[in-house]
Formats: sequence, structure tokens, C-alpha cells
Amino acid sequence: MDACNGLYKYVWLANVRFCISIHVPLWMAVMVYTNMFGWQMQERLQKVIREDYNGENVVGNAIIIPAYGEEPNEERIENMKKFNLCGGRPIKFLISAPTMRVPKDVINTSNAFLAFRATIIAVQKHNRDPENQPIRSVLCPGLGTAVGNMPFDRCAFQMLEAFEIHDLKIKDSLLNPPNLWVVTNHNDFMEDYCE
Ligand SMILES: *[C@@H]1O[C@H](CO)[C@@H](O)[C@H](O)[C@H]1NC(C)=O
Repeated sequence: MDACNGLYKYVWLANVRFCISIHVPLWMAVMVYTNMFGWQMQERLQKVIREDYNGENVVGNAIIIPAYGEEPNEERIENMKKFNLCGGRPIKFLISAPTMRVPKDVINTSNAFLAFRATIIAVQKHNRDPENQPIRSVLCPGLGTAVGNMPFDRCAFQMLEAFEIHDLKIKDSLLNPPNLWVVTNHNDFMEDYCE
């Protein structure tokens, strides 16, 4: 873990660096997205959801699209520096990973786990395709912590669980659960987790 602009934490993975901001709620992140990328990104994402995902991106699925229809211009790059994200390096992709179907409380759910799990798996799949420019670092807000109201510590724990199971692959009993109880217990533990 490494401090990143004070707000974000870098978590080094096997080959992808996740930049997680547990203390930045999602609404702030959303403003940053719109300021940085404009509305074009949302419109392109909506088109992909309509055409390839039957009109809905559900919790537990993640979609990766290029951040820009075309290469970011100087003004955009200047904007990124202004918002102090990732040292002003161009952000090339958007990963859309919903934490809720509709805006509502997700305090007692495992949705942060499901959304981050989907993110990791989508990046791995993206990187397996030699046609794609590989993703080496990911910037991610505290999932489910704004409208969703999930406590920061629970969100952080759930995201770490997803990381350990699906990137580090150090929890085989959850990667290949021997029975439903293992999953049930894990889910209950994540839903109730508090420091
Ligand atoms: C979440 O769980 C706590 C503890 O069981 C409970 O007090 C609270 O009402 C629950 N909140 C929601 C929105 O389900």
C-alpha cells in the first residue's frame, strides 16, 4: 500500500495496481468523472448496455469501455492534472460495476464485494485478449459508500476479500467452494463486518 495524492491508496496486485479511495464517497467520484470525461462516456456506456447487456448492467457484472471515443486532447489532460488523479496520466478505460440496482441503502449486503469481484474478473479477461491495451492500474472509489451508505470498514473488507479470492487466489475454499455453507458463512460475515 502506498499513499497516492493523500486521498487514494494504491494496492499493488500481481500485475494490476488498484488505486482505492475508501475515504472518497462515490458522489464525489461521479462529479470527477463528469468533469473529466464529459457526458460522452455515459452516452457510449448506455449504448453498450442497451445493445450488449439487454438494457441493464446488474450488480456482479462489470463492463469495460474506452474512456474516450477518441484520444483525450490537451484540455482533458490538463483537467486530469487539476483533479490531481494519478499524476495527470490519461485514464484510458472506464469500468462500470454497479453496487446497487437502483439507488438505495446497501448497508447489510455484500454488494461491494460483488462489484469489486466483477471489476477484477473483467480486468483479467480484458488483459487476456492480446488485441487489448492491457490495464495495469485501476482507480476505484469506496464501493457502495455514498447513496449505499455502506460503512467504510465493511466496504474495505469486502473489496479486500474480492482481491484475495480473485486476484491473489489465496482462498481456494471460496474460489472453489466445496458446499453452499462456505459461501453462506462468508456472505454473512461480509454483510455484518465491522472493525
Ligand atoms: C442493517 O443491520 C442492522 C443490524 O442488524 C440493523 O439494525 C439495520 O436496521 C439494518 N439496516 C437495513 C437498512 O437493513
